[in-house]
Amino acid sequence: MAKHRLLFVCLGNICRSPMAEGVFRRVAEEEGVLELFEIDSAGLGDWHVGQAPDTRAQAAARHRGMDISGQSARQVTVADYARFDLLLAMDGSNYEELIQLAPRPARHKVRRFLDFAPQVGTKDVPDPFFGGSEGFDHALDLIEQAARGLLADRLSAEATPAKEGA
Ligand code: 4NP
Repeated sequence: MAKHRLLFVCLGNICRSPMAEGVFRRVAEEEGVLELFEIDSAGLGDWHVGQAPDTRAQAAARHRGMDISGQSARQVTVADYARFDLLLAMDGSNYEELIQLAPRPARHKVRRFLDFAPQVGTKDVPDPFFGGSEGFDHALDLIEQAARGLLADRLSAEATPAKEGA
């Protein structure tokens, strides 16, 4: 069966999207379905290409039992719209930029990550880069809920074959 291919996207690819990649990987692992997924993350900007996640993101993730230190930042490319099934924007600004860059037939692949956690009452994972460590914890709280919602959504999509053109 084809894998679900998910790309988590933020601005710099050193804070939110690496944490989202790490959290989704762990949640899928806990549920025993990691092999059904191809998971990656990328940033809209190129300032941090090649860098490991921000040390505050690494520490917040480590505090919750995840090691995201091996990730390396990269920039979103147009090829990502073909390679992935969903491009998951961390906030509204990321969403708008991803839509602008999208080849028209791939626009439907761009989604707000927090659409998968309607209970949190916001559509934006706030950018923690310019704040303190509490911003990273808050981002992780939101990300964990959306990761669970996204996993449930993908697994239910698998149980109910999608209609062509729907
Ligand atoms: P991220 O956070 O988009 O969650 O990775 C940021 C990282 C770096 C910058 C902005 C946001 N920056 O301006 O360098």
